[in-house]
Amino acid sequence: MKDNLRRREFIKSTAAAGFGMACSPALLFGQPPTTKLPDVSIGVIGVGSRGRGLLNLLAKYDNVRIPAICDINAEAIAMAQTALMNNGKENAEVFTGGDHAYKKLLDRKDIDGVIITTPWEWHVPMAVDSMKAGKYAGLEVPAAITIEGCWELVNVHEETGSNLMFLENCCYDRETMAVLQMIRDGLFGTPVHATCGYRHSFWGSRSYIDFKGDSSDEVYWRNQHYLNRNADLYPTHGIGPVANWFNIDRGNRFLYLTSAATKSKGVYEYIRNHPDGGPDNPNAKLDWKQGDIVTTIIKTSEGETIIINFELNLPRPYSRDYTLHGTRGLWSGEYMRRGIYIEGKSPKTHQWETGEAYDNYMKKYDHPLWKNHEADAKNAGHGGIDYFMIRAFVECVSQNMYPPIDVYDAASWSAIVPLSEKSILGGSEPVFFPDFTKGQWIVRTPSFGL
Ligand SMILES: NC(=O)c1ccc[n+]([C@@H]2O[C@H](COP(=O)([O-])OP(=O)(O)OC[C@H]3O[C@@H](n4cnc5c(N)ncnc54)[C@H](O)[C@@H]3O)[C@@H](O)[C@H]2O)c1
Repeated sequence: MKDNLRRREFIKSTAAAGFGMACSPALLFGQPPTTKLPDVSIGVIGVGSRGRGLLNLLAKYDNVRIPAICDINAEAIAMAQTALMNNGKENAEVFTGGDHAYKKLLDRKDIDGVIITTPWEWHVPMAVDSMKAGKYAGLEVPAAITIEGCWELVNVHEETGSNLMFLENCCYDRETMAVLQMIRDGLFGTPVHATCGYRHSFWGSRSYIDFKGDSSDEVYWRNQHYLNRNADLYPTHGIGPVANWFNIDRGNRFLYLTSAATKSKGVYEYIRNHPDGGPDNPNAKLDWKQGDIVTTIIKTSEGETIIINFELNLPRPYSRDYTLHGTRGLWSGEYMRRGIYIEGKSPKTHQWETGEAYDNYMKKYDHPLWKNHEADAKNAGHGGIDYFMIRAFVECVSQNMYPPIDVYDAASWSAIVPLSEKSILGGSEPVFFPDFTKGQWIVRTPSFGL
């Protein structure tokens, strides 16, 4: 208890002193910590599919206790308790019975940090209350879905000194971390443009056919957004790595964006043509507002442009669309072509290096985190990236470290949701980003992966 209080006081003073302290050497270079990490207690709010996935990873750490979980769904709670048991951890105290039961979990003085894995509309109130209760908040993506919500996260972090780590696991994507090393080594010359996105087809998941349109439905909360909004609702898996490449809010910032949405036909045709659907299925008659593809272009203060695509509703393989273009060459990752071209270095002019030649670049620039922890990451979710994210969270909470992905990242990256919605509504009008750092972006320096 004393330790917990000291830890929270320490977090408060380092954060209040100005954008926190750097991460530990072990975290930065991917070395095993020389001493055992201090014990730490972490609560999980929302133990649905993502919450249980992260709980499973947390439970692998000897120094992590998970004394409390919260959900409104009894089945999810039972599955979370089983997951704890399977990992050799004690049953957690359960907080349930209403949407605000999580506040009682936050009253527990022994909890140092919380992971928030609930529907999007709960992210801001839960993270705000967690920070106000002095907990280290780990918040799932997107952090907020309104500009006011983005500001609230930043303001409460600054007022309380409590930290928030934005749980954007795709920042730990192996290829994009290697590209970050290449950029820092000057391989591409000056970076000028990037593409990224989230293209994850729902076709085959049946979620739109089974959707009952009320809150008893497990896809209710997501489908409410697709029914009522037209925006890039999931921008951070794409923009996270690109923001690190371009030093966003660390010497550079997003200036404005413009977005356009296609018509919305994918859901309608999927339901209409499905053997369990058909034209008379009630869901085929709903007016889904979400366009099939939303394309956004961001302009940065350093002059780069970034194209982000958001697509859920057409049949296609998964992609995050990462490419990077610079004055000396370009890279196109696993989702696009697995190719690299460097002027004056690649053997054939105007021709991609692919196959073994491509692999050699990726090997040479592989980030130390991946080099040192490939085996540990192997069975973690999403190709290993979840391992690195949870590892960083555990290290940060237990050692009072400022997070590698912070509240300003959370706000600037998540702001794309409401800004893209506004731009689409305004006929693709340019919409300007708030400066969530209040001018500090000029003096803040890059830290991710350094
Ligand atoms: N980073 C990633 O790769 C990744 C992957 C999947 C989901 N996510 C994010 O994780 C979050 C959860 O997604 P999911 O797929 O697990 O959804 P889910 O619907 O499976 O789980 C959400 C859980 O929150 C619970 N819940 C709802 N309201 C609550 C409240 N007021 N108090 C306590 N619990 C409440 C629900 O009962 C449910 O169990 C979302 O923000 C999503 O965007 C991130």
